[in-house]
Amino acid sequence: MYLSPQQCLHGDFYVPGDKSLSHRALVVGAFSDEESHVSNLNDGSDISTTIQVLRTIGVFIERDHDIVKIRGGKNKFLKFSGEIHCGNSGTTLSLLLGLSDKTVTFTGDESLQSRSFVDQIQVLESIGFRFSYFKKKYHLPFSILYHPNLDNGLEADRTRFSVIKASAQLKSTLLLVHAIRGRNIHIEEKYPTRNHTENFLKLTNSPSLKPLKYTIPGDFSSAAFITTAALLAEESNVTIHDVLLNPTRTRFLNIMADMGACISWKIDQTGLEPIGSISVRSSKKLSGLSIGEEDTASLIDEIPCLAMLALKAHGTTSIRGAARLRNKECDRICAIVQNIKSIGGQIREYEDGFDIQGGIPLSQPKQSLNGYQDHRIIMALSVLRYYVPFDLNISDASWVSISYPSFFQDVVGLKS
Ligand code: S3P
Repeated sequence: MYLSPQQCLHGDFYVPGDKSLSHRALVVGAFSDEESHVSNLNDGSDISTTIQVLRTIGVFIERDHDIVKIRGGKNKFLKFSGEIHCGNSGTTLSLLLGLSDKTVTFTGDESLQSRSFVDQIQVLESIGFRFSYFKKKYHLPFSILYHPNLDNGLEADRTRFSVIKASAQLKSTLLLVHAIRGRNIHIEEKYPTRNHTENFLKLTNSPSLKPLKYTIPGDFSSAAFITTAALLAEESNVTIHDVLLNPTRTRFLNIMADMGACISWKIDQTGLEPIGSISVRSSKKLSGLSIGEEDTASLIDEIPCLAMLALKAHGTTSIRGAARLRNKECDRICAIVQNIKSIGGQIREYEDGFDIQGGIPLSQPKQSLNGYQDHRIIMALSVLRYYVPFDLNISDASWVSISYPSFFQDVVGLKS
């Protein structure tokens, strides 16, 4: 994808439905015996994967204009035996792991197979699940089986307490494994992560599992790329409407404000999840800052955006406590470091993050920037067109379709 420099970004924006909420609405909606209705579902290919997987286990899903109708029932999950292909989607895997009482084989694409799922696996092993691996320990493809008679299993009569690392996917695995069997669990996280699974379960979790009727708000993490573009541009004034503003997701906005960005946001609707708008104007003076583990849990997907903004911010921006980024769709720390180096940026790599020295002149890379087949890396590199004075060539551009198929038309202004 070739992108020439651009200085202005103006207007009103709407982003696709939130990806995290879309996955959960489909899965939790399918738990009920009655029909669930979900609208404004994210249109990316990770969500198509979750739909495909649910159909594989026998859930009926059909689209009626903007409404997606879901008819499942928890027995579809509990009694399923067979193979589930999770494509590129770690969230699909995390939400489906351990929901069956029978043997299920999970696999995924090359990227998903290269990711370790040790955290989910160890926590499931501690409550009676057993895994067998086809290639490499803790990696896909693997089979999983629940042994209900093992010690430490999912007891019917008491609430389990569990303390886990800060990962919303890990937390969701544990919550859903218990919810589908009508068991209670109380989870304590090291730092708070997105709480969408708990919110949906609060709405639907009664002994009979009620159906879900829900309209998905715009994806906060997609809105972060528009926010970043506007902050990098010489001249900009944008508003993004109908965005999810759940405080477990919006730490990025506070960090932007702390960096000196001209940014404001307001909640227009409170309900299951707060929804509102974000307004951003070009910001001449951004300053670098330091963020640690306590922040990264609630802005994990926005760190690629932060790295691009750090190139403009005066002084040093330090990110630490973000080792989980190495186990995403690609090694995002490595991807950020390599690409920033190739445009002449000053970046120092650490095992759990990086330091970027901002405000220094950048130069046209000799080779194309590497998107690493990772939607968030590609989108982050693309919005650099609003900052750098040279053309950009970015590989793997079509991978934006994982979460935001119309990104290049909507945000970068390219004609489809
Ligand atoms: C997600 C949680 C995050 C995030 C991912 C989606 C989710 O992962 O990176 O894109 O929907 O639960 P972890 O919190 O597990 O790191």
